This record gives sequence, structure tokens and C-alpha cells, in this order.
Amino acid sequence: MNKAWWKESVVYQVYPRSFCDSNGDGVGDLNGITGKLDYLKELGINVIWMSPVYKSPNDDNGYDIADYQDIMDEFGTMEDFDHLLSEAHNRGIRIVMDLVVNHTSDEHAWFMESRSSRENDKRDYYIWREAKDGKEPTNWGSCFSGSAWEWDEKTQMYYLHFFSKKQPDLNWDNPRVRDEVFHMMTWWCEKGIDGFRMDVISMISKPDGFPDGPIPEGALYADSAITCNGPHVHEYLQEMNRRVLSKYDIMTVGECAGVTIEEAKKYANADGTELNMVFQFEHVGLDAGEVDKWCKDKISLPALKANLTKWQTELNDVAWNSLFFCNHDQPRVISRLGDDSPVSAKCIATMIHFMKGTPYVYQGEELGMTNCPFGSIENYRDIESINAYHELTEANLREPKELLSCIAYKSRDNARTPMQWDDSENAGFSTGTPWIMVNPNYKEINAAKELADPDSVFHYYQKLIKLRRDSEWSELIVYGDYELLLPEDEQIFAYTRSLNGRRLLVLCNFSDRMAEAELPDGVGEKVLSVLINNTEEMPEVFGNLRLAPWQAICCEIA
Ligand code: GLC
Ligand code: CA
Repeated sequence: MNKAWWKESVVYQVYPRSFCDSNGDGVGDLNGITGKLDYLKELGINVIWMSPVYKSPNDDNGYDIADYQDIMDEFGTMEDFDHLLSEAHNRGIRIVMDLVVNHTSDEHAWFMESRSSRENDKRDYYIWREAKDGKEPTNWGSCFSGSAWEWDEKTQMYYLHFFSKKQPDLNWDNPRVRDEVFHMMTWWCEKGIDGFRMDVISMISKPDGFPDGPIPEGALYADSAITCNGPHVHEYLQEMNRRVLSKYDIMTVGECAGVTIEEAKKYANADGTELNMVFQFEHVGLDAGEVDKWCKDKISLPALKANLTKWQTELNDVAWNSLFFCNHDQPRVISRLGDDSPVSAKCIATMIHFMKGTPYVYQGEELGMTNCPFGSIENYRDIESINAYHELTEANLREPKELLSCIAYKSRDNARTPMQWDDSENAGFSTGTPWIMVNPNYKEINAAKELADPDSVFHYYQKLIKLRRDSEWSELIVYGDYELLLPEDEQIFAYTRSLNGRRLLVLCNFSDRMAEAELPDGVGEKVLSVLINNTEEMPEVFGNLRLAPWQAICCEIA
């Protein structure tokens, strides 16, 4: 059992644009984050992952970077960043930066040079191809609709962009590109940051020979998954590890779209040659449709249990998991697995926080923030949702009203509405006009109210985090073995964690009805103590187990 601080941490993700606006321009900023560090300290987290704060024209809210060593104008200055970093460190909170190096902005100096002529010295920093029969070089689609290729009038060639056309893909096969990226990463490490979350890092190595991919029925282009886990990705990450990561005591997490267990064992191998851990997306893809994510199916509980259990057991002792359900690309989990009630938020949190891996809390999740009733497409800001709506309705592949209801359920904007601080105007997020609408339920769901209520979702998260980080159970919760119980049960998610002869039992009723079950023989005989319970009653555990709607408990058993 190799111990490490990043295994024992709880991470909190901040989406700076929507967290707290300190100067009334309607956009969250760095000083806004600094002003809320005491709130985060009280919650008990010890690492912040900040979505990108670098200079950016904001085609994709900062995931399109124009200068990696400068701060976005709307977010403040480098002095504000340094202040945030030192104030966080003063409170024992580490800062992990978002590293977006699969692509840059088309306004990055490298790209402006690269596109200026075919002979430019930086031409090969990006991926340029001739037209094929007067058309795109391949049939690959962009993750944000349309082709992944954009025609460039000036030099009469196409460039590759797996995201928006303002996010050209870097050419990682060019050693000069790797030098530039590693140099920039070193600069941030020298500044004293504590790690990197690596954006779509599984996509940096493009497939050999640029083959066309299959076009699924009902789609217009081949899936961008064609570029996941490419031929040189591990070689490049090992080089990054040798040249940068291994020199610092930092944490690294790779956002790995399309990662399989076998691939995850390479990206996050315990031998430490690549990254510390990965984000995998299988569990949040269980409710996707056949063609794309735009559907309203619900995740079946047995399928969810099987999937999470597979990751828990197969990575055990060989790699390390990230535990998450919410981030800036996902709808709110409480509206997805739960029923928007605080008790369902606590139930879902219990299931996640007692698993093995490093938990990530996404801003507002600790308050039970829900999906937002945006209504018309004009109220959305997210490029993915807006482009999909126009592309699919204009091609008559989807009916507008039906598609809009799916976007309401799955849009990334559900996670991006302003943080609900209190019941004053704009939820206390800004004194100006917020860049995106505030969820109208902020009078009922907000931090001020929850801080004053010992029974709130906030205080429940605080307790879960304390149990993991600072209790007699910490070692077991972080390092113990996981075992699933009742795999077929349609309502109850049950598992045990054990270490050195001590054993915890976690029971979560994922339904708004009473749930009954019988635990298998050999699990235990009696409850020794209760660590947490989101309901007033304590059920009879061994014998006639009955859990109240959304009830979740964790207890020590013998
Ligand atoms: C990642 C980010 C997402 C972004 C995309 C392109 O998936 O999490 O928000 O749009 O990469 O950078
Ligand atoms: Ca601001």
C-alpha cells in the first residue's frame, strides 16, 4: 500500500466564471475565489482544481487558450493569481491548474504564425492537410458538431480541430511542441502550483495514417473517439513525466475520454511513470443514447453498480481512481440520479465518498444545486449545446422541441449557472448582470441558508469529508478494500470497505420508496457503530433490512 497525499485528499472543482464575481461585471474572477477560501476551508477540502484562468477569447469558456502564461482579462491579473495561491497555501489548500494542451486558441501566437504561410517556422506546431477530392481530408467530426477540419483560405489547406474551429489541435508528434508545453508546465511548477488536471489528454496522439472512421446511423460524421488513446500517447506522457512531473511534489489527473481499464492502468499506473489518476467517463455515459448523449434515459442502478465496481476492483493496487459524478461538463447529479431533494443529494454523496479513490466535489454539489430550467435555446451559453441544437434540427435529424428537452436534461450549462451564495439578488454571485442565468431556486438552495442549518447538504458533505480526511476511519476509507453486495438489487447500492480486520458497510437506497433486502451470509452479524446516516431512523441491518426513501448509512460491522 503506497501512501500519497493526493490519495488522501478531497478535491473541490471551481469553475471560475460562475463561482464569485468580486467586481460586479457579471463574471466570476480570481479575487472572488480568494474571498471564498474560508468557505472552502470550512467545507474541509484541501485541493482546488480550477478550470482554466488563462488568457482566452472564450469560445469555449477558457478551454481555448491564447496565452498559457497570462491570466484572462475578466478574471484579473497575475498578481491576483499569486495572491490566491498564497492565501490558499496559508490555509493548507493546494491549487491544481487545468492544463489544456490538446489544442490552443486560434488566437494563440503559435497558431497565428502557423497559419500565416505554408513555410512558416511554426507551421508544424498544428496539423495541416491538403484537401482530398476538394473536401475534408477525413470524415472525422468535431465534439462540438460539424467537421473536425476547417478550410484556411490563405494557405489553401485544412487544419484539424477536434473541438471548435477556434481550438486547433496541437501537433504532439513535433518535438518542438512538446518542448514548448513542458517548458510552460515547468514555469507553473516553479511558481508553486500543486498539480495539473490534463484536459482531454487521451486525445493528443492522432491515429496513424489518418483513416476515415465509421459514421453511426443518425450522425453526420465519424466519432472523435477515433483519436482516443492514440499510438504515442503513453510515450509522450512518460516523456512529460521524466522532464517535468517527476521533479515536483504535485498531483496529476488525466481527463481520459474513451479510456478503458487496460488503458487506465497505463495512464495511472502505480509505478508513477505517467499520471497519478484518470477521470474515466463510462459511468456518466451509461445514460447516453445510441448516437449521442442527447436523450433522457435514466441510468439503471444495477448497471451503475457493475460499472463502478469494475473500476474499483480492476484498478485496485495497480492504479488509482478519481471519484466524481459532477463537473463543468455534466448535468447536476441530483437531477440525474436523484430527485432534486436534499436527502437524495446526501444519498448519492454517501455512495461516492466511501469508495476507493480521490473524491471530487464540483461547486454547488455540496449545496444540492440542481439542473436549471433554461427554457429556450437563447438562454444557453454552451457551445456544445447550441451547436448540437442547430446542427441536428437543421439536418432534420431531431425534432426541435424533443431535442430541447434532452438538452435541458444533459446540457453542460446545468453545471455552469452561478454559485448560489445567499438569497439576495443574483444569489449573491454578482451585483451586475450574470453572464448566464441564475437558477431561480436560489432562495431555497443557497450557502448562507445551509451554513445555518446543521441538517443541510453542506454539513453532510462536511461530515463525509472529515470522516475521510481526519478521523479514526481515514486510513480505511482511503486505502481499504472494496466489495460490492446485492449486485442485482434495483434500489439498494450496498458495499463494504475493509482494512486490517475492520469493516465498514455502506447502504444507499437509490429510490423514493422504501427498500427491503437481505444481506448475504458472511457479511457480518452486528452493527458496532454508525459513522453517518442521512435519516433519523436507524434500520435493523442484519435480519430484516429496510431502508427509508433515499436513506444512506455507513456503519462499522463485525
Ligand atoms: C474537456 C473540457 C471541456 C472542454 C473540452 C475542450 O472535455 O472538460 O469543458 O470543452 O475539453 O477543451
Ligand atoms: Ca468579475
